[in-house]
Order: sequence, then C-alpha cells, then structure tokens
Amino acid sequence: MNVLPYRIPHSRDVPLKPSTPTTLIAEEEVRRRVEELAAEISRDYADKGEVVLIGVLKGAFIFLADLSRALDIPRRIEFIAVSSYGSNHVSSGAVRLVMDVRGNIEDQHVLIVEDIVDTGDTLRYLIDLIKSHRPATIRSCALLYKTDRADANVPVDYIGFQIGDEWVVGYGLDYAEQNRTLPYIGSVDPEAG
Ligand code: PRP
Repeated sequence: MNVLPYRIPHSRDVPLKPSTPTTLIAEEEVRRRVEELAAEISRDYADKGEVVLIGVLKGAFIFLADLSRALDIPRRIEFIAVSSYGSNHVSSGAVRLVMDVRGNIEDQHVLIVEDIVDTGDTLRYLIDLIKSHRPATIRSCALLYKTDRADANVPVDYIGFQIGDEWVVGYGLDYAEQNRTLPYIGSVDPEAG
C-alpha cells in the first residue's frame, strides 16, 4: 500500500519575513506579572475547592505552565485548541475548534487561559463553547490584551498587560510559527522583512 505521509505545513512555506523582534515586555517583567496574577487568582479561588485551567493552544502553553505552577490552590489542567489566524498574520475572522477539552468540566470552576485577546473573537467563541459543558463558573485570564482592538463586551477577568495594536511574539506567541519560545514578549514589524 502506498501511504503518503501527512505533512504539517512548515513555516518555511510562508514567504513572510518579519523584522527581528524588539523587546516590548522584558522576561523579568513577565515573570513578576505572572506571579501577581497567580496570587490574585489564588485569593479569588481560595474557597472554591479546585480551579480547572483551560489553556488555549497553541499560544497559551508557556503562560499556562508558569501561571499554573505559581498558584497555591488545587488546580487541574485542560487544553483546548482553536485556530483563527492560520499561518498568515491577517485574521480570518472565523474561529475553528481543533480539539475540545478532554476531561469533564461540568460543575467545575473554569478559568480560560489565553496568551492574547486581540479582537476577542476567539474568547467569545470559547466562552460559548465551554458554557455548553455546563461548568459551575467561567472566568478568563489573558496575559496580553489589545485595548484598541478588543471587543469590550467580551469579558476578561484577569489581564496581564494591556498593549497597543502591534504584532507580538515570544512567551508562546508566534509569527508564522516563529519566535514562540523567546523568553520575553517582543514586537515585530510584519512589513520589514
Ligand atoms: C491567537 C491567540 C488567541 C487568538 C486571539 O491564536 O493565541 O487564541 O489568536 O485573537 P482574537 O482575540 O482576535 O480572536 P492563533 O489563532 O494565532 O493560534 P495559536 O495560538 O495556535 O498561535
């Protein structure tokens, strides 16, 4: 049988070459703010028994790892995967569910953990989707929030940093799959390449 290997499109296929990242939020500043958020969340959930953190793949994987380890309350980890931007830097506007949560979150206290709220389309979609699992409560936490672009009607309960309308990379965020593992938040110019 002739089986063709499934090939994940690689970022080399994308002709876009943004500029080298310049530091927007330094590693130490990110670390400090994540610890502050964890302290605030730990206080707020202290009497709730357990919080279920739902990390939104891929971008939230580093933030979720650091935030979850800084909490001092019982917690469970779930992941959900959605896609909206594809490989390009222009949003398609449509949010697509790639993978739903695996565990049971009915009657649980859920905290959605996002790397960034840009337009708010993804978070709005996720809140509706997660409601269908009938959790006890749903809150959301985003490390970055684009103040000038985000739909103010989409509730974000915990925000790390408010930023302007720029393309950011690092600490989980990518540009065409590049720069996700930078330890700081950088800004790139998509037109400069
Ligand atoms: C990014 C980011 C958020 C979403 C925010 O995900 O991780 O989930 O966009 O944008 P919005 O507020 O305009 O909806 P992306 O689709 O780029 O996927 P990735 O996390 O896998 O990089």
